[in-house]
Amino acid sequence: MLGENVGTIKDVLYVRFSVTDLQMQQQFLVDFGFKAEINDGLLIARGTDANPYIYIAEQSSEPAFVSVGFAAKSEAVLRNIAANDGVPIETNDLPGGGLMARLTDPNGFSVEVVANLADSPFLTAASRSGLNDGLEKHRLGERVTFAEPDSLIKRLGHVVLMVTDFNETLEWYQKRFGLLISDEIIMDKGGKQETLGAFTRCNRGEEYVDHHTLFLINADRAGFNHAAFEVTNWDALMSSHYKLMKAGHHHSFGVGKHILGSQTFDYWKDSDGFMLEHFTDGDLLNESFGSHKRGLEDLLGTHWGPDGMPGQ
Ligand SMILES: [Fe+2]
Repeated sequence: MLGENVGTIKDVLYVRFSVTDLQMQQQFLVDFGFKAEINDGLLIARGTDANPYIYIAEQSSEPAFVSVGFAAKSEAVLRNIAANDGVPIETNDLPGGGLMARLTDPNGFSVEVVANLADSPFLTAASRSGLNDGLEKHRLGERVTFAEPDSLIKRLGHVVLMVTDFNETLEWYQKRFGLLISDEIIMDKGGKQETLGAFTRCNRGEEYVDHHTLFLINADRAGFNHAAFEVTNWDALMSSHYKLMKAGHHHSFGVGKHILGSQTFDYWKDSDGFMLEHFTDGDLLNESFGSHKRGLEDLLGTHWGPDGMPGQ
């Protein structure tokens, strides 16, 4: 597969939505931990890492998942990807500029690929003084202290899409973006093995990347499932959990710890029902980790946490 790739991505960059109330969504995002601004009818939110935006929304009477954006490895790679699909290279008019190609995946999802995006200055991330767990004590002779962050969110970590033609869709993304399968979920259906989905990660060689950047779920209907944003640590995740609870937002699932990817998770729904996740402490893998097959019980199971699954 790798030899036939058209391109490689470095990471996922952003998700873009249409929402029914821009001000209400801005408040949700701020409560969720983003730094979010509305300019000329565009809601743009960022975390503390260098990407100038990781969430974008416009107002519309019809709420919709509009697109997902990925960072091409280089401008040359972006040009290869665009040429492969016969689409033009456009100038990106959002903060950070650079170049963009707009693709359409086999499910009709709009997929934007960006190169030469200028970094924004890092903001102050949530942090705390040393942790004293039962085995190792890292804070001696001092009270716990927490740094006041500019934003609780660090970055966008992964996007999960439900797709109707799983094999065609997986091949489409792998060919253009060089994605590696981390875990493929196999289940037995009437004596036949069927793939329920695949967690895919970026290929940056020896460099460690998230267990998954894109998770494709084999489904009857195509749709957005969720986007997951990394927070610094357990304290940030839990402090945000209670802030969102107190603000009356719709909690979906958590807090718990996934088996596949190991993320400590907490799932929420915004006012239009789109699911956004906080996560921390996920697995980091490189190319040599390879690809693995796992069962449904590993997908749905947790190291600890509630029964059920995200989406309620
Ligand atoms: Fe997730």
